[in-house]
Amino acid sequence: MNTKRISERLEKALSDQMNVEDLQSRTYYSYGIWADDEGYGGIANFLYKHAQEERNHAVKFMKYILNRGGKPSIDALPAPDTDPQNLMNCFEKVFQREVENTESIYRLVELAFEEKDWATWNFLQWFVKEQIEEETLAAELLDKVKIAGGSNASADSLVLLDLEIGQHPQDAPLAREATAENP
Ligand code: FEO
Repeated sequence: MNTKRISERLEKALSDQMNVEDLQSRTYYSYGIWADDEGYGGIANFLYKHAQEERNHAVKFMKYILNRGGKPSIDALPAPDTDPQNLMNCFEKVFQREVENTESIYRLVELAFEEKDWATWNFLQWFVKEQIEEETLAAELLDKVKIAGGSNASADSLVLLDLEIGQHPQDAPLAREATAENP
């Protein structure tokens, strides 16, 4: 009896996304190594933690495919991105990576919708929400770098920025959780 509850097309697309999340993780490790090497220990720490989050996303895809009777495939990954040129460029790259990942998730949602695979559609909604948080977080961090002076930031403001980002939570608050008392 065939107990597979996912189409081959979606199985492959979800498996590809698992590999994309893995590449995201490696890319954030590479940005973290760059930041560490430049002396931004706090920012490096933030990026390393974020790399772990991306690894967790890959695991969620892996488990989902297996739970639906499919088999994910670990592929050879391309090299992660090149090193950022400066802190501003680092957070521009982070934002860009997240937007690209959101687009990739949206393509999966479309595919699940097309196939009327509501289980997969429902599974993917977690990632739709997660990407709102991740884009918001990346935009917030980019704003912080701009406020500190962007590419012309002084050494003092960079030290403060490094401390602040090092302690920044990994999740951004969502607009739908805002209230008049707690906007
Ligand atoms: Fe797994 Fe930052 O998206």
